[in-house]
Amino acid sequence: MTTKVGVVGTGFAATSHIEALHRLPQVQLVALAGSSHAKADAAAAEHGIDRAFGSYRELVDDDAVEVVHNCTPNFLHARVNAAAMDAGKHILSEKPLAMNSVETASLVQQAEASEVVSGVCFNYRHYPMVRQAKAMIDSGDYGPVNLAHGSYLQDWLLFANDWNWRLESDKAGSSRAIADIGSHWLDLVQYITGQLVSEVCADISTVHKSRFKPAQGSQTFASADSTAAEVVAVDTEDFGNVLLRFDNGARGAMSISQVSPGRKNRLWFEIDAASASVVWDQEEPNHLWLGRRDEANCQLVRDPGLLAPEAARLAHFPAGHQEGWPDGLKNMFIDFYGAIDALRSGDEYSASFATFADAHQVLRTVEGIVESHRSRGWVKLTDGLEAEA
Ligand SMILES: NC(=O)c1ccc[n+]([C@@H]2O[C@H](COP(=O)([O-])OP(=O)(O)OC[C@H]3O[C@@H](n4cnc5c(N)ncnc54)[C@H](O)[C@@H]3O)[C@@H](O)[C@H]2O)c1
Repeated sequence: MTTKVGVVGTGFAATSHIEALHRLPQVQLVALAGSSHAKADAAAAEHGIDRAFGSYRELVDDDAVEVVHNCTPNFLHARVNAAAMDAGKHILSEKPLAMNSVETASLVQQAEASEVVSGVCFNYRHYPMVRQAKAMIDSGDYGPVNLAHGSYLQDWLLFANDWNWRLESDKAGSSRAIADIGSHWLDLVQYITGQLVSEVCADISTVHKSRFKPAQGSQTFASADSTAAEVVAVDTEDFGNVLLRFDNGARGAMSISQVSPGRKNRLWFEIDAASASVVWDQEEPNHLWLGRRDEANCQLVRDPGLLAPEAARLAHFPAGHQEGWPDGLKNMFIDFYGAIDALRSGDEYSASFATFADAHQVLRTVEGIVESHRSRGWVKLTDGLEAEA
C-alpha cells in the first residue's frame, strides 16, 4: 500500500528528505509547503511534487496527506508537530523536537494520547556500522561500558560573517552547537550503550559574540556572505565541552563545535567496554575500529556478510560500494514507514528510530548542559514530565 507524504520546508533538511523519500517505493510524495507560495511552487516543480502550499497549515489540512515530515527551523517544530497530530497525521519531526522541554513534554503527551506514529530525525542511528557497534555492545561479549567519549565538530560557522538562522536564539533555542549537533552525539551514544545521561558538567563558549547578518539571510551550509550588512549580537555557544555520567555508572566526555577549522561533519565516538573499544567516524562511515588489549586491533569493513543481521539489513550495497549520509536517512525512513505499515496491519513491529520521548530526554540533557555552564557545577537531570502530569 502506498503512503502519501507531505514535506514542510524547502531548505537543506527538506531537500534531503525529498531525495530519500523518492528512493522508497512504498511512499508517494504528494505535497510540499514552504514559507511562501512562490518558494513552495519553485521547490515542488524542481522535485516533481504536484501540490505546493504557502503554509504548513494548508498541507496538514490536505486530505491527501497521511504523513508529515517537519523540516522547518526549530521555532516552528512544536506547532507543526502538534498540528499534524491534531489532524491525525503521522509525524516525522526534524531535531530538536521543539525549542524547549516544556514544548517537548507537551508533544510527548500528545503523541502518547494519539494513534499516530511519531518520530524524530536522529538519523545517525541508522548507519549499518552504528547498528553493528550497538549489536556488539548489546551482545555483552565485551563486558560493560566504562567510558564513552568523542566529539561532533564542524567549521561552517567559523567566521564572523558566516550566517544562518541557527545563530538567532528566538529561532533556534537557547543552545546552538550543543542542541544542533551535540544532540545527535548524545542520542547516538545513548542508543548504542543503552545508558541514559544522568548528570552533566559543562563549559561552553562563544567565539564570535557578534556576527554580520546578511540582508537576505543565508541557506544552511552556504559560504560566508562578504556583503553582510548588520552587526548582530550572538547569545548562543559556538563550542562546548561536557563531562557526562550515565545512569548505570559509565562516564563520558564530549566536545562539540561549529568553529573547528577543517572539520566538516565529524561526528566521532569511542565506546570503551571492559575488553574492547569500538570507534566510529561519520566521515568514514563504512568502517568500525575495534581496539583490544591482548590481541590485534582490527577494522571491520561494511560487508553485509560480516555484520550482525540487524546491521546487515541497513547495508544496501556490497562491501566496497560506499554508503553514507543519504543512505542513513533512507534507512531511518524505511524504519518509520515500517512502523506505519505495522500499525495499519496490526503486526508486531520493533522500531529503532528516536521517539518523541527520546528527543525530550535529549533536550532535557541539553538544557542541563546550559544550566551546568551557568552554575559552574554538576547538574542532575530529571525527565521533566512529572510536572506536566
Ligand atoms: N537530522 C539532521 O541531520 C539535520 C540536518 C540539517 C538540518 N536538520 C534540522 O532541520 C531543520 C531545518 O534545517 P535546515 O538546515 O533545513 O534549514 P534551512 O534554512 O536550510 O531550511 C529551513 C526551511 O524552512 C522553511 N520555512 C521557514 N518558515 C517556514 C514556514 N512558516 N513554513 C514552511 N517552511 C518554512 C524555509 O523557507 C527553509 O526552506 C532544523 O530544525 C535542523 O535542526 C537536521
